[in-house]
Parts: sequence; C-alpha cells; structure tokens
Amino acid sequence: MMSLFERFGCGAMVGMLVLVFTLFCCWLPVQVGADFAYPDVFNDPDRDTPLYGKFPDGFAWGSATSAYQVEGGWDADGKGKSIWDTLAQAGGCAYGQTGNVACDSYNKYAQDVQLAKAMGLTHYRFSISWPRVMPDGTLASLNEAGLAYYEALVDELLKENIEPVVTLYHWDLPQVLQDVYGGWENDSLVELFNDYADVCFERLGSKVKLWITFNEPYVVCWLGYGIGVFAPNINDPGYGPYRAAHTIIKSHGMAYNTYQQKYKAQYGGQVSITLSTDFGLPEDENNPAHVAAADRYMQFTAGWFAHPIFKNGDYPDVMKWQVGNKSLAQGLSESRLPVFTEEEKQYIAGTGDFFGLNAYTTTVCKDNFRPTDPNYEDDQDVDRYQPDNWPKSGSDWLRPVPWGLRRLLNWVSQEYGKPIYITENGVSTADVAELNDTSRQTYYGAYINEVLKASVLDGVDVSGYFAWSLMDNFEWTSGYTQRFGLHYVDFEDPDRPRTQKDSAAFYAGLVAYNGFEEAGNGAVAVTSTYFVLATLLIVYFLL
Ligand SMILES: *[C@@H]1O[C@H](CO)[C@@H](O)[C@H](O)[C@H]1NC(C)=O
Ligand SMILES: *[C@@H]1O[C@H](CO)[C@@H](O)[C@H](O)[C@H]1NC(C)=O
Ligand SMILES: *[C@@H]1O[C@H](CO)[C@@H](O)[C@H](O)[C@H]1NC(C)=O
Repeated sequence: MMSLFERFGCGAMVGMLVLVFTLFCCWLPVQVGADFAYPDVFNDPDRDTPLYGKFPDGFAWGSATSAYQVEGGWDADGKGKSIWDTLAQAGGCAYGQTGNVACDSYNKYAQDVQLAKAMGLTHYRFSISWPRVMPDGTLASLNEAGLAYYEALVDELLKENIEPVVTLYHWDLPQVLQDVYGGWENDSLVELFNDYADVCFERLGSKVKLWITFNEPYVVCWLGYGIGVFAPNINDPGYGPYRAAHTIIKSHGMAYNTYQQKYKAQYGGQVSITLSTDFGLPEDENNPAHVAAADRYMQFTAGWFAHPIFKNGDYPDVMKWQVGNKSLAQGLSESRLPVFTEEEKQYIAGTGDFFGLNAYTTTVCKDNFRPTDPNYEDDQDVDRYQPDNWPKSGSDWLRPVPWGLRRLLNWVSQEYGKPIYITENGVSTADVAELNDTSRQTYYGAYINEVLKASVLDGVDVSGYFAWSLMDNFEWTSGYTQRFGLHYVDFEDPDRPRTQKDSAAFYAGLVAYNGFEEAGNGAVAVTSTYFVLATLLIVYFLL
C-alpha cells in the first residue's frame, strides 16, 4: 500500500499538517475564548458552545428600571402614597429599608440617561408611578408636577437618541385605590386604570412609541394577592390571584383599545404587556406526564395572561379544567377561575403588539397530584425545584441556566407567534461593593448568546433585549441586599453616586458589535490567512 508520503510527497504532507493545525486554531477560540460559559455545570457541547455573529439590524439594546425601585421622592411635589410606600414604611422590607430615596432618580434622572448613553443603548425602559401622576388614583387629582417629571425624562432620553419604553404599572398602586376599592380584586379599577393610561398616552404619546401596560402581573397576583408577601399583602391563595388577574387582564384590554381608538393613527406606537415565567423544564423529557406538567406550569404563569391577550380572549383550557375540576372536588358550585363575558373576550383578544418577556431562570417540573384546599399553586398539580448543582446568584430564586432562555423563547414564539422583546433579564450579587463583577459578565454573555441562538438558529423573532438593571436599586422586600445593577450605587452616600461595573463595559461591547465577535480578536483573520496559504501549498504540490 502506497503511503500518503509516497503518493503526495513531502510538501503536501507539510501542507496538510498546516491545514490540520489551522482547523484546530479555528476551533480553539470557540472552546477556550468564551469566558461566559458555565463549564463546571453545563457542558453539553451541542447545546452550550457559544455562537458568534450579529443580531438582526435594528435590534433594540436597552436597560430597564422601575419607578419605586429607583426614583425616591416618595412624597415630592404632591406625589401620593403607593402600596409599596406603605409596605416599606411599615417595616415590611429587609432591615426596614424603603424606597423613600432609592437611587434618587427623581433628581438624578439626567445622570441615568448618561449611563445609558455611555453604554451605547438604543432604548431605556422605565415605569411611571401612578400616584405621582394621580395622587389618589383618579383624574380629579391629576398632578402636573408628576407629569412634568416624566416629560423631562423622556425629553432627556430623546436628546441623546435613546428611545423611551414606558411601563404604566410596575406594582406601585395608589394607596387610596387599595383603601377604597381593595385594589385589583375590584372591577372598578378597569376604568380607573384606563383614565390613567389615557392621560399618559395623551401627554407622552407623541414621544413614546413603545408602551407596556403591566409588568409581571403573575407576581402582582400571586405574591400580592395569593401568599401576601408583596404589597398589598393579601393572603388568599385560592381566590385572590384569580380575581386580581381578571381585573388586570380587562384593564390591559381596555387601555389597549383606548390607544387604538384615540392615538394609534396619530402616533403609530405599539402597546403590549410584560409577562414573566421561568422556563419549565420537564424532570424527565421522555415522560409525557412531566412534559405536560412543565407546559401547565408555564400556562399558569405566562399563559394565564398571554392566552386571553394574544389568543382568544379567554384563559388557557388547561387552567379552566384544572381550577374547575379542583373547585368541584372542593365542593364549590362554580370554578374559582372567573369567567369572561363574550363582550369582554372580544375586546381582550388580540390586544398585544409584541410579547414583553421578563426571564431570569429555569425550574424543573414534574407532575404531582396536589389535592387539599383552594390554592393557585396546588391547582397546577406541578412540583417544582432547582437542582443543587446549578450555579447560584445573590437571590435564592435565581439560578443562572442560560440555555433555558433559548428554550423559553422558542416556547413563547410557538405559542403566541409574536415578536418578542426581552424586557428584563439579569442577575443579582449580594450586597458587596464589587465593580469587577465577573459573575454578571458570565451571566449576560451566556444568556444573550442563547438569545442570539434563538434568533439566528431557531428563527425566533426577537426584537430587543433589556438588561435588568441599569443600576443597583431597591429590590422590593429584599431592600438593598441584592444588587442587579450594571452600575454600582452607594446607598450610604446622600448623593447616591453611580459607578460603572465591568459588566457595563462588557454589555456595551455586545451592544457596539450588535452581537458576539469571535473571541481573541484577529484570530479569525490570522487563521484564515493560514488556511489560504495551506490550501495553496497543497494545490501546488498536487499539481
Ligand atoms: C368595589 O369597591 C366599591 C367601592 O368601595 C365597593 O362598593 C364594592 O363592594 C367593591 N366590590 C368588590 C367586589 O369588592
Ligand atoms: C377536567 O375538566 C375538563 C372539562 O371540564 C375535562 O375535559 C377533563 O378531563 C377534566 N380532568 C382533568 C384531569 O383535567
Ligand atoms: C476581574 O477579576 C477576574 C477574576 O478574579 C480577573 O481575572 C480580572 O483580571 C479582573 N479584571 C479587572 C479589570 O480587574
């Protein structure tokens, strides 16, 4: 048998060796250059190998905050009290901390805009505090000074070419509406929210083109009206969440229709809602019962709102069945899940121009029959957990699982077929002054890379990404003990100085390139030169 050496000669062998070496070099940076992988935990090369490339042109790069978490100025210029002022001021948050001052963005908003600008962001998502604009929640109390604050913030953003994305309700309900009506369990809030939304559309609509009615209503309903750990601290797990959600969905629908009727033709903006869910991973993907359980979990969290809004004006069948059957078994004469009238279904269906998704983590789901008393979680018949070996963060509920986001994006896309804005994604660290936040860089790199895979490889229509959060802020009942910021805020200093963390520079790099540049800059150019030379060498000796 003739050896390769005899057949092709020495030069060709050298050429081939160079070629092999070159291919190895091409492969190498992909394997070792990615400092944003979680190699000790997730190391499935088919799934976790980074992808290099760009997002589609026009991809929105943003960061997000919310009013109560950053503004402070809790009673400034006529602002009314919100249910979160009440909770925090009564000592309901870690160490008795409050959002009374928070990041003092009420006074320092121009600095915030500069932080966004320095990162090259194209969008900034913030929320309007309802009681700042309407201290008692009604039109009669309209507060011009409150509106002026948001007008100034929007103008400052536009001056720097940053598009404002406005959330109308990020959890800070006027306390008066809680006192008089019992909050979201009362149908009267549908009209009241519509009045508030209408004023915001009217006053800011010429400048704001992306509107989000509600942020994470699942959290409002379950934590606020189910287990009562968030404002307004109502502990009614079998009924409260369903009643609150029913009002919120109708409120969203009415506000959306108001925009269509009064402002769409003139301003041409888009209106939708931001929903949150973990990705539900079936414990055993070959077990249909666990696969169904995982889907059920996501239907009960995101689908609860998304199904009526993006599909047919009504709850997912699986929710109707689960809650209906459980209610019957509990001896009730009707389901604890309220029913929409035909007229309501009509005006709720199709009231979302995009899907706003807040996503942080993944949860393992398995089917488990849960009888007992009326309870929204038991209604799901799902047991959930996160494996101990998954990476940790500064929040015990938040384990980084980057590939879960890609799967969640595919699930949302298949279910609802809408363009998706990831309106929040990010990670916390404990309360330490850490500017070299490598864990946050790893998280953003790994997660955003999975977004790129969903976009480029899976064809999911992702329109933009918003990092949570622009800066450390008031993390609800955890106070200032968990830091999610791309910028460090010193809450001991009355000036609340902001300092860039390394993650901000890392994120700015992704924004500037509009994606992921091959690691080891220049490696591509060098190796492709080798590749061309090696090929020429082989061809030369073969001929
Ligand atoms: C809603 O609020 C009004 C005004 O306080 C009250 O009369 C009514 O009973 C409430 N409805 C429900 C269902 O709580
Ligand atoms: C629950 O109710 C629905 C219809 O009301 C029915 O089709 C379904 O089989 C029942 N059982 C379960 C476990 O969902
Ligand atoms: C940040 O920390 C990592 C790991 O501790 C280190 O390798 C890196 O050089 C640090 N970066 C800066 C800018 O100090």
